[in-house]
Amino acid sequence: MPERIFIGVAWPYANGPLHLGHITGCYLPADIFARYHRMKGDEVLMVSGSDQHGTPVTIRAEQEGISVPEVVAKYHKSFQESWTRLGISFDLFTTTGTENHHTIVHQIFTKLHRQGDIYPNTEEFAYCENDKRFLPDRYVDGTCPHCGNQRARGDQCEKCGRPMNPQDLLNWRCKLCGHPPVLRPSEHQYLKLSAYEQKLADWIDRKGGHWRSNAKHFTRQWLADGLRDRSITRDMEWGVPVPLPGPGYDNKRIYVWFEACIGYVSAAVEWAQRKGQPDKWRDFWQDPACRHYYFIGKDNIPFHTIIWPAMLMAYGDYNGETGRYNLPYDVPANEFLSLEGDKFSTSLNWAVWVPDFLERYAPDALRYHLSATMPETSDSDFSWRDFLRRNNDELVATFGNLVHRTLTLTHRNFAGQVPAPGALDADDKALLAHAQERVLHDVGSQLEVTNFRAALAGAMGLAQAANKYLDTKAPWKTIATDRERTATTLWVALTAISALKTAFTPFLPFTAAKLHTMMGFSSTAQDAGWRVLPVSPGQALQTPTPLFIKLDDKIIEEETARLEAGRAHA
Ligand code: MF3
Ligand code: ZN
Repeated sequence: MPERIFIGVAWPYANGPLHLGHITGCYLPADIFARYHRMKGDEVLMVSGSDQHGTPVTIRAEQEGISVPEVVAKYHKSFQESWTRLGISFDLFTTTGTENHHTIVHQIFTKLHRQGDIYPNTEEFAYCENDKRFLPDRYVDGTCPHCGNQRARGDQCEKCGRPMNPQDLLNWRCKLCGHPPVLRPSEHQYLKLSAYEQKLADWIDRKGGHWRSNAKHFTRQWLADGLRDRSITRDMEWGVPVPLPGPGYDNKRIYVWFEACIGYVSAAVEWAQRKGQPDKWRDFWQDPACRHYYFIGKDNIPFHTIIWPAMLMAYGDYNGETGRYNLPYDVPANEFLSLEGDKFSTSLNWAVWVPDFLERYAPDALRYHLSATMPETSDSDFSWRDFLRRNNDELVATFGNLVHRTLTLTHRNFAGQVPAPGALDADDKALLAHAQERVLHDVGSQLEVTNFRAALAGAMGLAQAANKYLDTKAPWKTIATDRERTATTLWVALTAISALKTAFTPFLPFTAAKLHTMMGFSSTAQDAGWRVLPVSPGQALQTPTPLFIKLDDKIIEEETARLEAGRAHA
């Protein structure tokens, strides 16, 4: 039975190019998951977009000395190019700057406001007397009262993951000028999160059992600390206007986190409109059988497991079981990736930037390495040495070599056509069973539960087994004495390669597409589905060309030198 799968991926702030940490954090796992489900025949909608609002964006505009709309346009374009070149297959990648998004944010805000889930309150906020302005959360730095991190931000401590109000920070300072702020009263709108505390706790108890431990842990922690109502407007001029009558909110905007998550709904609506089926978004948002997955980095967990579900409950008249709007089914959040042992840092320019990487290396080499080292359950590290080793030992020497040997021998000895097998021996049967019965089941069942490393290892296991089989059978020798034996060996190996092609398609889409054509199959690797295509005797193979490029060891030194040279010092 085909299923419906909605895949929401964190909306990247349009404040800089993407680096490898972003890719392995959420975009790559989401894409692998989407490709797998599409191959299975499921109905998938995968959306995200540029997060154009909020202080990360205004801070960047100030740094670059260009206008905020210019910054936003520049990085939105950069994201789009990265998706194309990396093969991240969004059904729609939009922005929070569309009229459609603003309209839907206003609808949701207005309904919640009318029913009392959003209400006004006056509190004191950080104000810089030197800069004569209110300071949004990220314009305030200080020490985290929970874990002692001295560089905590006013919205969140990145070290312990706890959300923050600027005034919670010890030794707080204005990010613009370094002076300690003062508190000044200002009226804002508040989301009544406290009213949803019990409903959220019940929902997580009933539906969160299969979540990864990081999502469970952060969410339980938040609930244990007690849910406070949170202000969802800010004193700033860049953002979605507050839809309230009167002049009181002219200089205020909706808080970026309140509106960015609504992008998951507005993107689905835009996708349906563009498709010419304006109601189609409801299949994903209002069919209770549609499962919702949110691929995010761990710093975004509470927004996706608490605040966004509370908003959906409030908007959908949540009635205890299934609301009018689907709640998250899973929130597979990844831990962090570091770079050569140090934290990725945009401000210190300690990063491998995607556009730059793709100038020199193939997208599938990156996808492979990042899948194999994905920080699923604990932090992991990117190093150039490991990248090279994996590329050369695993892609080139294992999978690439298997394909190259098999196709070349077939070409040379069987005029480029799949040979007909003779009687099968125990080795043949063992490899065929692995290829035809086991591998797609193993890889698929790991992908179903978002275990990407294990899934990839399952595919690579078959490549290793097939290489060993080929070494044992030595068709390059048997061809001199036993043509039928050789034909059987090559046919078995080609069948294993066909299975590998399917298993690797979600991970290595460019390579799989090439291999699909090289093996003489029609249609595309993606459309062929999640099954092992039979290799039929007589099927014409194309002249093989290498799938992967071996990288020279000197690259390790070159690339680490390049990194060090670019590193800015704090
Ligand atoms: N822009 C935020 C970040 O990069 C993520 C927003 S995810 C969303 O941390 F769901 F809110 F859009
Ligand atoms: Zn200041």
